[in-house]
Amino acid sequence: MAKREIIKPATVFREDKLHLLPLPEPPLRPNNPFRRVIPVCEPLLDGKEKKHVLECLDSGWISSLGSKIREFEEKFARKVGAEYGVAVTSGTTALHLALYTLGIGDKDEVIIPTFTMIATANTVLYCRAKPVLIDAEPRTWNIDVERIEEKITPRTRAIMPVHTYGHPCDMDRILEIARKYDLWVIEDAAEAHGAEYKGKKVGSIGDCACFSFYANKIVTTGEGGMITTNSEEIYRRARNLRDHAFSSERHFWHKFVGFNYRMTNLQGAIGLGQLEKFEELVERRIENARLYTSLLKDLAGLELPPETGEIKNVFWMYGIRVKNEFAVSRDELRKRLAEKGIETRAFFIPIHLQPVYWKEYLSEEFPVAEALGKEGLYLPSSPGLKKEELYFIAECIRKASHE
Ligand SMILES: Cc1ncc(COP(=O)(O)O)c(C=O)c1O
Repeated sequence: MAKREIIKPATVFREDKLHLLPLPEPPLRPNNPFRRVIPVCEPLLDGKEKKHVLECLDSGWISSLGSKIREFEEKFARKVGAEYGVAVTSGTTALHLALYTLGIGDKDEVIIPTFTMIATANTVLYCRAKPVLIDAEPRTWNIDVERIEEKITPRTRAIMPVHTYGHPCDMDRILEIARKYDLWVIEDAAEAHGAEYKGKKVGSIGDCACFSFYANKIVTTGEGGMITTNSEEIYRRARNLRDHAFSSERHFWHKFVGFNYRMTNLQGAIGLGQLEKFEELVERRIENARLYTSLLKDLAGLELPPETGEIKNVFWMYGIRVKNEFAVSRDELRKRLAEKGIETRAFFIPIHLQPVYWKEYLSEEFPVAEALGKEGLYLPSSPGLKKEELYFIAECIRKASHE
């Protein structure tokens, strides 16, 4: 490599897996009675968000010192059943900071699902550790807990399950394995604010949990994230590492390599406005999901998201699987919906199929994650989605199913 050369993209990929990749995004046309594109998600900022932000501007407290962040941390942690919260700049930095705080480092192994968003794997690499991938479980689309033990080695340090699309993982089994092998459990709860597993809130079950507050998340601060935990030790260390690991003995004195992952008071202010309607934001997503399910459940060839008695799925996004028996393919359905101004998103492309990761996992098979990546899409899921819009979306899917 030349001395002056900027980073180049990975260009090679497996020919035999090309058929699993989604087609490019279909063009959206506002060709519907509402004369607008119905986005896959838009935030609801109709409460006191503006008031709180204006208070920051009026008082001059706009960076990371200021009362809004502390209040947001305390209130959000309480909402998810945890003692402590450490607010950061994103869900990604929350995951990185959590792994780093727990001492995950060089050549350690961290167990994650392959069916997830890229940040889950990347943050393990940021720590110079190795993401060890597990296939998805066909019913819940979450990590297949029965496949975890076979991947544990002397280097395994942590399990990082993802509550995919708001559906909690089988945490009892994960905690049982973690106890047996003495592993950390970091919940990737980026998509699961308000979800519950056997009466316990997601965010308070593992050693710590990481949330995202990106604009499409159930609670948003624009960009932002938080680590929640019940451990005072993890809380104190993460707080310190978030802020360059400044020493309490003297200023500009550092005993650890820390980061600047501080959330701003402005973001905390938006978050506080969101928390005032936390239950409503969660319930609106659940109501959307119930209505979608009632309108789509009789369509052959569609698999709808699961909901069992022992968990509370918060349906961050309403995901469906378009099977072979459906009249058109997933990509064709997305195209038809886009022609009616309905934005959708294809499911995650699994980590082991990413141009930056595939070489590491060539000898492994992940058939469930690959089928999900090929057949899944999620429908508009905004908390402010109007009933008429939702009926219209369901009707367009029904029409496609008749062809
Ligand atoms: C499962 C999962 N983990 C982590 C992240 C990263 O969060 P952020 O975009 O706030 O960095 C996301 C974002 O969508 C996610 O879905």
